[in-house]
Amino acid sequence: MNVLLKCKTFLKKIANGLFFRRMWSFFDIFLNFVRLIMRGLSVSPAEMHIKILLYMKRLLLSILALSCALSAMAEKYEITTKNTTLLLETSVGRRVEFVYYGPKVNNQDEIYSTSSQIRWNAYPCFGINCTCEHALAVTHANGDVSLQLATYDVKQYTDPDGGRVWEFLLKDRVFPFYVKQFYKAYDDCDVIKTWTELSHTEKKVVVLNKFASAYIPVKSGDLYLSYLAGGWSAEAQLFEEPILRGRKTIGNHDGARTSFNGNPSFMVSLDGPARENTGNVLGGTLSYTGNYDLSFVKDGNANHLEIVAGINAELSQYYLEPKEVFTTPEFVFTYSTEGKGGVSRNLHRWGRNYQILGGTDTRDILLNSWEGVYFKVNQEAMNTMMQGFAEIGGELFVMDDGWFGDKYPRDNGETSLGDWVVCKKKLPEGIGALIDEAERNNMKFGIWIEPEMTNTKSELYEKHPDWVLRQPDREPAKGRGGTQLVLDMCNPAVQDHVFKVVDDLMQANPRIYYMKWDANMSIANASSLYLPKDRQSHLYIEYHRGLMDVCRRIRAKYPDLVIQLCASGGGRLNYGFFPYFNECWSSDNTDAVQRLYIQHGMSHFYPANIMASHVSASPNHQTGRVVPIKFRFDVAMTGRLGMEMKPSALSEKERAFAKRAIETYKSIRPVVQQGDLYRLMSPYDKKPYVSLMYVTPEKDRAVYFLFRRHFIKDEWEEPRKMEGLDPDRNYLVRELNAENPDKKLPIEGKVVSGRFLMQNGLRLNLGKDLSSVVLELIAQ
Ligand code: DGJ
Repeated sequence: MNVLLKCKTFLKKIANGLFFRRMWSFFDIFLNFVRLIMRGLSVSPAEMHIKILLYMKRLLLSILALSCALSAMAEKYEITTKNTTLLLETSVGRRVEFVYYGPKVNNQDEIYSTSSQIRWNAYPCFGINCTCEHALAVTHANGDVSLQLATYDVKQYTDPDGGRVWEFLLKDRVFPFYVKQFYKAYDDCDVIKTWTELSHTEKKVVVLNKFASAYIPVKSGDLYLSYLAGGWSAEAQLFEEPILRGRKTIGNHDGARTSFNGNPSFMVSLDGPARENTGNVLGGTLSYTGNYDLSFVKDGNANHLEIVAGINAELSQYYLEPKEVFTTPEFVFTYSTEGKGGVSRNLHRWGRNYQILGGTDTRDILLNSWEGVYFKVNQEAMNTMMQGFAEIGGELFVMDDGWFGDKYPRDNGETSLGDWVVCKKKLPEGIGALIDEAERNNMKFGIWIEPEMTNTKSELYEKHPDWVLRQPDREPAKGRGGTQLVLDMCNPAVQDHVFKVVDDLMQANPRIYYMKWDANMSIANASSLYLPKDRQSHLYIEYHRGLMDVCRRIRAKYPDLVIQLCASGGGRLNYGFFPYFNECWSSDNTDAVQRLYIQHGMSHFYPANIMASHVSASPNHQTGRVVPIKFRFDVAMTGRLGMEMKPSALSEKERAFAKRAIETYKSIRPVVQQGDLYRLMSPYDKKPYVSLMYVTPEKDRAVYFLFRRHFIKDEWEEPRKMEGLDPDRNYLVRELNAENPDKKLPIEGKVVSGRFLMQNGLRLNLGKDLSSVVLELIAQ
């Protein structure tokens, strides 16, 4: 422990009064001793001798007790944010203990006096006295499978981004195996990150069998879990259930696209079924692009829930060389007394301000060519779309799949991935001519790529058949089109290739403003021809290390290129990607009614500005549902607005509406993209309505959305109450996106207090199927 820390500990002991109590007992003993000598005159020498010996013994025992008490006394580490306290305890030679996490506590004693302390190992290791869940399990070279960590130092400092870091340095009591446990607190958004660094100086490799990022114990209560799960075209469906006994795992083995079946994010409500704006809720998300495992374990006797979050170690045993440092992914967590909504707002603020690349930038309104023409890309089709979109106010045009392949033109999903040269047959004038056309229309230009992949029918595969993930002695399993394969991102030559896909495009066309980075296949062949035979279990981890290295190289050279994260839709929705990606394609399902569910789920953990939300054709290509243009726009305007159709498919009336809606979105996007979200009515409620609103942090502007999914003459004609406004301010109410701008709702232009809007609400009953209302509230 450094000198500073020793002094601090000493001073705290003085402040705690323990020092004075110990000093007094010494003084007391000394006084008794003197009294004894004084009285000694009246006692026999033999008696006096015995008494002196007895007092000497007491003195020695007392010294011993004192030193034990001093070394056993744990130092308290209070990791605070604006509204939360995380309390840990440790001292040299002891484990780190997780004592409390919850609403901010001004007087630590209250935690102990109310029995609110958990006092549990903050990073339990397998092997010794650890029958609970463990965060770390290793096998040393001599076969010993145990670890027992003890603190030898604690450091504290502030990072350049303003986050305050606590670093607990731990060492095994026997082996030279080291763990650094980090906690980093972001004050303004009540978010704390935790992760570890594992290393050793043992003579031989140590095998990591489990290596979680975090272990969070939660005091028992009426606990409920909220999490996301789903599949292609049904991403981010919300599930909520009580946490009873046993184990629940949110995990993934996909390898490449880990957010289809689940998402490494969750909320735990501590006092009954989660509510939107009240109640104690802990939320967390693992910032990792690869396979993950989030376990929630409640044993019969346990008085707390154990949450263990980290890389999915199954089939990923890691061989840690001496002096190598293994860094676990960051686990990001927050706590709110304002329900799930509070947790979402904290994570959104943290995401925008600290994690998402360009998280505070305004996002453009784009048209993506996919659902308009699919693979039938050509100059004329692109030009027509660009012109049509420019006419209604579009800002950015993105050419999706189908533009590349020289020897093998990309006419369907069966060929050409890897051959990132323009298909001359389709685009004889090249990308430059497309960018010229975009610029003639005052728009920016973007392009689709899928750089981690190839097809067996491609020039790349013909040249480098060993670059794909596959077993040496088996025919590889193929993906899309029966020909797709995943490139081996563990291989540095492949990493260079993937970097060059972006670099070559940017070198040749520096005016490319945006890229859509797709990934349409899972790791179906779990084997690398690059990794040594005895390191195949590193595949899932090395793939993502390789991918992240490439992302870092791209960002070092092209920091301003806007890149969308896509994996057959929202298959890669994860904070681990966002230091390099600006936004995410939410789903290939563009049906506006379905999007109410998908976007509602996403919004629990991810902010609106990453949520690509596009207006598509009607009837919808995925569901066949006919949805009015207003409803489609209103839903898309709750995220990052875009379009996914031929503008020429719009009727005159629809075109006029689209133009007005795009203009409107430009004026409200700072509120939607950067504001605080309040979910008002969930699509999962058995009611026909869905509602949400965004409010600026200053509470001077808000945008309110109400959707009626279907019409039932029912009892649900309730007042529409709002949230998040300033009760003491008056707001001018304006209807936006009215179907007929000359015939607005009666509330148009009225001034209503924030208090009334939140306590009483507005009577806004929509009479038709698939009808919607958007209101803007401007503080007066
Ligand atoms: C899957 C994506 O989610 C779609 O938007 C589109 O880009 C296709 N891939 C193209 O192949």
